[in-house]
Amino acid sequence: YRLWNTDPRGGFGPGDDPLYITMPVQLVVADAGTHLSFYDSTWDGRVVLREGEEGAGSGADRPGVSELRMDGGPLRCWVLVGTPSRVLQGWSGLTGAAAVPPEWALGHQHARWGFGSAAEVRRIVAGYRERGLPLAALHLDIDHYDGHRVFTVDGERFPDLPGLARELEGAGVRLVSIVDPAVKVEDGPDAVYAAGRAVGPAGAFVRDAQGQEVRGEVWPGECAYPDFTDPQVRQWWGGLYEERLRQGFAGFWHDMNEPVSFTPAVFADQTLPRSARHALDGAGGDHRAAHNVYGLTMARAGYEGLVRLRPAERPFLFSRSGWAGMQRYGGTWSGDVDTGWEGLRASLALVLGLGLCGVPYSGPDVGGFGGSPEPELFLRWFQLGAYLPLFRTHAALWAGRREPWEFGPEVLEGARAVLAERERLRPYFLSLAHLARRTGAPYVRPLWWGAPEDRALRDCEDAFLLGDSLLVAPVLEPGADRRAVRLPRGRWYDTATGTAYEGPGQVLLDAPPGRIPVLARAGTVLPVRGADGAAALEAWAPATGRTGGGVIARDPGPGFAPAELERLTVRWRDGRVVVEGEDGAELKVQVRGV
Ligand code: GLC
Repeated sequence: YRLWNTDPRGGFGPGDDPLYITMPVQLVVADAGTHLSFYDSTWDGRVVLREGEEGAGSGADRPGVSELRMDGGPLRCWVLVGTPSRVLQGWSGLTGAAAVPPEWALGHQHARWGFGSAAEVRRIVAGYRERGLPLAALHLDIDHYDGHRVFTVDGERFPDLPGLARELEGAGVRLVSIVDPAVKVEDGPDAVYAAGRAVGPAGAFVRDAQGQEVRGEVWPGECAYPDFTDPQVRQWWGGLYEERLRQGFAGFWHDMNEPVSFTPAVFADQTLPRSARHALDGAGGDHRAAHNVYGLTMARAGYEGLVRLRPAERPFLFSRSGWAGMQRYGGTWSGDVDTGWEGLRASLALVLGLGLCGVPYSGPDVGGFGGSPEPELFLRWFQLGAYLPLFRTHAALWAGRREPWEFGPEVLEGARAVLAERERLRPYFLSLAHLARRTGAPYVRPLWWGAPEDRALRDCEDAFLLGDSLLVAPVLEPGADRRAVRLPRGRWYDTATGTAYEGPGQVLLDAPPGRIPVLARAGTVLPVRGADGAAALEAWAPATGRTGGGVIARDPGPGFAPAELERLTVRWRDGRVVVEGEDGAELKVQVRGV
């Protein structure tokens, strides 16, 4: 692996490296125990892993780093040891607690590069509404900008964006804006560039050793790059989101922040030259040290600006590029994952891996970025996406459509079913978001999370745990109508049929086109949205003679108040399953698995 944030340009699949985010982190899960090593240098580096290979002399399956080379920076390494949950808790203590997204960001979101006018936005939103499909947010890509310039709007194609935003919000749909870091070089009274030049003694933009502004090329043409490692620049940039809020945007999608320049500066690297100077929060240095934290510091600027501008609401922000600790400001997404079954697989691996690197909120471009998925692939991707934190369809300008009704009636019905389930599970997702902040545990966890000693589970990469309660087994291959699912210890219910299975072991479950297997752990309790839309609890029967339970977090509203945690116990009493709160009082629940 190379440790250098890179836009793979044009899409990526499994095995492509490097990608947008660098995490100089290695999590080792072995018979002897679990540990995480963090190589705390932002510089470029290379890691070669020889997992389980015969080492020189001893131990046949000694996992670990065979070789790690950093090009510079401090020689500083942190090691955290313990169970997986203990290690992730330590990691979040070290690099920061994850931002909790607003409630609406846990609903379904739809994006496209190419929603080019207010009329088209209305057409898409009406398409969801007419078919009764829930939609929480619609994302506007660079085509809503005036000449691709950040913090502008094309007034001809979007004549009244604040009005459009109000209209959509009335229908329960938030608008999310892409924000690119590079600023078009131009003068003029409203030009962001001109304002940036006036920031601090030397202006906001990255300069070279001779004091000349470093220029690159991005969507709007010739651009300059804000130096987000400078606190004055972050302060200025954060203030610019005021314009976005005025336009009616509720959330922000940071892109191209590796950062990208289409005109290569050195070798084939499409980024700033290594010699470019950065403030590095007073330490001073060049792009070799600042590159990997460019996206992270941009996220910080945006997040802190939004908190200043709108202090009563948690910001919604996700960023393509980042580094260890980016979770403090928001989440991320897959970037331009290839359309194809391989891309579908890669998107699960990414979300799992990011969660283990402390970034719990992420998801893929459902359907893949660049192509035209066949109906089966689209539906399988949609079904997986519905159980991931960021559930967003997105596609390139040249790609096929991604609206669920574009793939025929069978896909539409399958999408409708899983969208309804996502809506039902929204309180559970929100609870997981708060718990991720409190404990460092990602929402999406590998099957071995609670049993790292189980080698069979360690080998399993095609299913995941969603919190403590659910096990999700997506279909990642064409033509499947059932699949093998490996179960951790304990009893698991197939949520579609109610059939109970005993783990550890492997079972073969039906996975017809309309659904993927989802299992519930016996004795678990989770917050859901009832049929009437109100908050409800769902409990799954413990095995006879056993008790269960769990911790759930209730959202205290859109602000920053910490969530209240409730410890619930599930037990058999007089032949029926009851759920008790901390005070022993019995709670109203819907019991399943009996
Ligand atoms: C990049 C982003 C993609 C976006 C496109 C246009 O490729 O990864 O999500 O749609 O730029 O802004």
